[in-house]
Amino acid sequence: MINPKDLLEFLKERRSIRRFKDTPIPDEEIEMILEAGQWTPSASNKQPWEFIVIKNKEIINKLASIAIYGRFISKAPIVIAIVGKIDENPSWYVQDTSLVSLNMMLMAWALGIGTCWIGSIDREKAKEILGVAGYNFLLTVLPMGYISGKIPKPTPRKDMAKIKRIIE
Ligand SMILES: Cc1cc2nc3c(=O)[nH]c(=O)nc-3n(C[C@H](O)[C@H](O)[C@H](O)COP(=O)(O)O)c2cc1C
Repeated sequence: MINPKDLLEFLKERRSIRRFKDTPIPDEEIEMILEAGQWTPSASNKQPWEFIVIKNKEIINKLASIAIYGRFISKAPIVIAIVGKIDENPSWYVQDTSLVSLNMMLMAWALGIGTCWIGSIDREKAKEILGVAGYNFLLTVLPMGYISGKIPKPTPRKDMAKIKRIIE
């Protein structure tokens, strides 16, 4: 079990990272990130997902070219695409794969690997590039690489008083 205060600190320290070193990520570390995805909770434990690890620079560049706020993907040594298999749980694939994404982001951070959820990608084009069948859902692509430069300052959070309501 992890110390709760350490966990909270860890969650607060995570940042979206948009600048990466060229340094390759060892396969064992990629495997740990994938395992973090594999162990994500899912509705009725259907695990309606598939992960694609992209190491091919040409494909990574193609993905960068179709992500308006994700051009920096091109600098990442690897990208992991998270695919939702709609037919395996049509009601919950979005929630399930979103949790996968967060689990992977946190595992990466624990390894000193930076990543950032890319929402601004043309999902249909990305599916074509990656050979993902039309009836599947491409949640996001996560560029991953060791952090280049300084770790960004924390992004602000709304005050707890504004987001909290207690019913007693
Ligand atoms: C659903 C979602 C979509 C996002 N899409 C993008 C994106 O396309 N490009 C980008 O640079 N950051 C993207 N982000 C990262 C957010 O901008 C970032 O998480 C937010 O500003 C908080 O900063 P932090 O992650 O460093 O705490 C996305 C985050 C989420 C959760």
